[in-house]
Amino acid sequence: MFANLKAQAPDKILALLGEYKGDTRQGKIDLGVGVYRDPTGVTPVMRAVRQAERQIWEAETTKTYTGLAGEPAYLQAMSRLVLADDQQPERTAALATVGGTGAVRQALELARLGNPDLTVHVSDPTWPNHLSILKFMGLPFAEYRYFDDATRGVDFDGMMADLGRAQAGDLVLLHGCCHNPTGANLTTDQWSEIADLLDRTGAVPLIDLAYQGFGDGLEPDAAGTRLIASRAPEVLIAASCSKNFGIYRERTGVLLARVGDPASRDLAQGTMNFLNRQNYSFPPDHGARVVQTILDDAALRADWVAELEEVRQTMLGLREQLAQELRDLTGTDRFDFIARHRGMFSRLGATPEQVARLKDEFAVYMVGDSRLNIAGLNRQTVPVLARAIVEVGI
Ligand code: LMR
Repeated sequence: MFANLKAQAPDKILALLGEYKGDTRQGKIDLGVGVYRDPTGVTPVMRAVRQAERQIWEAETTKTYTGLAGEPAYLQAMSRLVLADDQQPERTAALATVGGTGAVRQALELARLGNPDLTVHVSDPTWPNHLSILKFMGLPFAEYRYFDDATRGVDFDGMMADLGRAQAGDLVLLHGCCHNPTGANLTTDQWSEIADLLDRTGAVPLIDLAYQGFGDGLEPDAAGTRLIASRAPEVLIAASCSKNFGIYRERTGVLLARVGDPASRDLAQGTMNFLNRQNYSFPPDHGARVVQTILDDAALRADWVAELEEVRQTMLGLREQLAQELRDLTGTDRFDFIARHRGMFSRLGATPEQVARLKDEFAVYMVGDSRLNIAGLNRQTVPVLARAIVEVGI
């Protein structure tokens, strides 16, 4: 049986991480996998998370199963975090998932059950694992233009033209904020135009919200998602707690499915519960309980918001510094897009050869499409990177 297995191509981002770990050079710089690191290079356990874990440890009396959809209090807290005052529980089914990726996967499974003929429209580029999951599931997909290589901003005309081809019942995968891998984001007006387009085409949005709080702030980062959710008759939202709570390994996510009416909601909820049961039965609980404890406690929540804001400001500071260093070194403003991008990532727009030279000659690791994780830098390594970028001729 197992001799018939075909070798799978390794995930590019995770393979790069392995390469980095095996590099023995002093001063190597990891700008690959999307994990936040503080100025000392550590991915910290956030203060509120530690505190919540302590509380849970003291209060928890059982480890018996929780609900198949996850704990209602967690689902409510996440629904509030993502949708604010527009939760519409009578129309919105909710499911605890194995991280944000699990939410994306369950969303695709749900959509396919709803429409076996759907095409999924994804941005070019998108998170590589989106494409990998779509291929693995055998779901047809079409790429829509997103990144303008010249401006390093969004090619909005191209995006709208390509999405105009979406059919009723197709799925349009959108990044809620902090676009991965480019860092180029939509404005509120553009979100509004997308809502109009979805209205015209009848395509259903699937919003991947993996970085709420990492771009312009907790509320602004959810603005596009909220706008779409307030207007579209059907919406899927896959939200992750990995980054904004720093609980990557706890695998904590949520899928929200807003549908037409209470009867459809019950149908969607039942189907989502079924999908959890078929794929892994009950969802993980610890991370969800930590998140719910923080969100439902005023003091813990305030501390979490404050620390998340420190994280965001640290990344913004690094963006400003890198753009300034490159302005000084090149005498031009052509790298100012780095300061305009938001979230962990920026796509530099380098060739694969330049990316390879950065790795081979300067021990700087970034994903092959020239995505760099800004949080892999610190005040000391920014000038090193800036010189390397100029040196390889980007
Ligand atoms: C990334 O894009 O680097 C992160 O989302 C981590 C991952 O799993 O790929």
